Amino acid sequence: MLSNLDISKSMIIKLDDELPEMPEFVKGIRRASKRELVLNKKEIKLALKNALRYIPEKWHKKLAPEFLDELLNRGRIYGYRFRPKGKIYGKPVSEYKGNCLAGKAMQVMIDNNLDFDVALYPYELTTYGETGQVCQNWMQYRLIKKYLEALTENQTLIMESGHPLGLFESSPNAPRAILTNGLLVGEYDNQEDWHKAISLGVTNYGQMTAGGWMYIGSQGIVHGTYNTLLNAGRLKFNIPNEGDLGGYLFVSSGLGGMSGAQGKSIEIANGVGIIAEVDYSRIQTRFDQGWIKEIVKDPGEAFKLAKEYMNREESISIGFYGNIVDLLEYAVKKNIKIDLLSDQTSCHVPYEGGYCPQGLTFEERTELLKTDKTKFIKLVNQSLTHHFELIKILVDRDTYFFDYGNSFMKAVFGAGVKEICKNGKNPNNGFIFPSYVEDIMGPLLFDYGYGPFRWVCLSGKHQDLLKTDKAAMECIDPNRRLQDRDNYIWIKNADRNKLVVGTQARILYQDAVGRIKIALKFNEMVRKGEIGPIMLGRDHHDPGGTDSPFRETANIRDGSNVTADMATQCFAGNIARGMTMVTLHNGGGVGIGKAINGGFGLVLDGSKRVDIIIKKAISWDVLGGVARRSWARNKHAVETAIKHNKENKVGDQITIPYLVNEDLIKKVISQKYLKKAD
Ligand SMILES: NC(=O)c1ccc[n+]([C@@H]2O[C@H](COP(=O)([O-])OP(=O)(O)OC[C@H]3O[C@@H](n4cnc5c(N)ncnc54)[C@H](O)[C@@H]3O)[C@@H](O)[C@H]2O)c1
Repeated sequence: MLSNLDISKSMIIKLDDELPEMPEFVKGIRRASKRELVLNKKEIKLALKNALRYIPEKWHKKLAPEFLDELLNRGRIYGYRFRPKGKIYGKPVSEYKGNCLAGKAMQVMIDNNLDFDVALYPYELTTYGETGQVCQNWMQYRLIKKYLEALTENQTLIMESGHPLGLFESSPNAPRAILTNGLLVGEYDNQEDWHKAISLGVTNYGQMTAGGWMYIGSQGIVHGTYNTLLNAGRLKFNIPNEGDLGGYLFVSSGLGGMSGAQGKSIEIANGVGIIAEVDYSRIQTRFDQGWIKEIVKDPGEAFKLAKEYMNREESISIGFYGNIVDLLEYAVKKNIKIDLLSDQTSCHVPYEGGYCPQGLTFEERTELLKTDKTKFIKLVNQSLTHHFELIKILVDRDTYFFDYGNSFMKAVFGAGVKEICKNGKNPNNGFIFPSYVEDIMGPLLFDYGYGPFRWVCLSGKHQDLLKTDKAAMECIDPNRRLQDRDNYIWIKNADRNKLVVGTQARILYQDAVGRIKIALKFNEMVRKGEIGPIMLGRDHHDPGGTDSPFRETANIRDGSNVTADMATQCFAGNIARGMTMVTLHNGGGVGIGKAINGGFGLVLDGSKRVDIIIKKAISWDVLGGVARRSWARNKHAVETAIKHNKENKVGDQITIPYLVNEDLIKKVISQKYLKKAD
């Protein structure tokens, strides 16, 4: 007969016997709105049993009603009581307990993801993207920390959707942690079943770097947004390579976790930006950080201020406190020219609060979500439809609109607007507006292997970050390609642009050659004691990290954009080559069932062992993506693959597609059909 006493005795690593006191919620810290609860009575019982699995039996009587309360009022069981008191933040790695550096380093990363200054809803363990969580609840957080403290060089921590399954014996050359989040069996890979699973407490929405523990604040997306805006200008307005966006206007929405990067990015590109945001607290945060320079409540005032700066070709980022639809309505009515237009509301979850409908304040939206979901959905659909109509008018007036990877166009389609689809029926042939990956990020960056390489100085010292910035700059040849020139300028100015929020981290787009060169240099610096250890990684939004026809693989046109082999192989290959932590998720920035994405973290400890991992694993991580893009006949990827094959006759060899004459295909097809008709 199973007994809780035996169970407790059988585990060395478990939650403490003492019940923590309920911590006080600090005023002013943003809280997640109530999540939709779709469980029936039987399933609610199951959810309670699931959450109580972490806790010794003697506390069940006290906690069962508390957890039920959380479930009914918050839509999830977060186990608030188990959140450690006070401020959580990524401390210097030397301040963490542990048996190996990797175990301590991962604790730095997790805590940074939950920092009040970094996370979107820190009490709900949500780092960014409205729903992207580190893990599901605070019991898991505590248990993960205990496992990481115990972890040795001969073990691997297995994480399944926030749940630490346990430590399993491995070897120093295996990853120290393997994480998966939100993976569902195909039949159940849909919103409804997903909702049930997450409310039951058996899955987690990891977004990308939230559940992958590699988030570095909005800086992580500033470089990509800057690249996108600058290249959109080059593409659409013939801005010369050495030019900038001086005198051009960019309008968008969202000053949240990732979207908060937009103001900073347009300023770095020397343009003028107006970013609409309905939640005043987020505008204030960005203002306090210096990531927007003015807060304006009236659309007329916003455009007037923008015009003044455009005339002087000076940069400014303006936070407009209000709905993006109101702002665009004004621009349409007054015939104001917008050069670049996008959207970064959380449209991957429009009905969960990600998109605030026109006519509701942020506070009214939060209330309505709680009281009348059906009405809320109706308003979201109306607003998205009107939003689309306004964009269409502006595009007819020469505005360049692009989807910025938030599933905006899919959400408009979901609202009932079939006209947004190229075929007027469904998204199978894509949408009428381009996504930034189709036009810019795909052909200009991903196809060459450039992507959001990043690192965190685990010592917590700003001096280390400055040293790494300088070292990285010295590794880049600005005359090699235009992209290298842009990256060189980026890293040269990075410190001046004050990008750090949370840990001492840096983002720097690089291709495989650049990433390896920089990583080896850093590891050498660690070896020589010039800097402390480094956690190296990348966003999942990378050439090989993510399969998503709605975003990262939107410029793959051989029909394979519906497959998820690349991201899965990337994950497996990184494990095989010994990255420190490796992760694979469902969802990411576009929502459940619309992407499979993965990433990695690699601790640079200065060892020769890590030099070998850098050469083999980083090369694979990037070139697996280039090889797949090349196989899809993407021109720049084919060129990059040919170059790689020629330079790596002994190691890697990539299968490269033969080109097929279009006229031949046309001729064969027409002959066959003519014959049939005969
Ligand atoms: N392109 C990328 O690289 C990338 C990366 C990460 C995330 N994303 C996607 O971008 C979206 C935004 O991410 P985030 O982390 O900033 O999310 P977030 O939820 O933190 O921020 C979105 C913001 O939009 C505001 N908002 C919602 N409706 C609005 C409206 N109608 N008018 C004005 N403001 C409105 C919200 O108040 C919120 O602050 C998500 O869908 C995310 O998945 C894209």
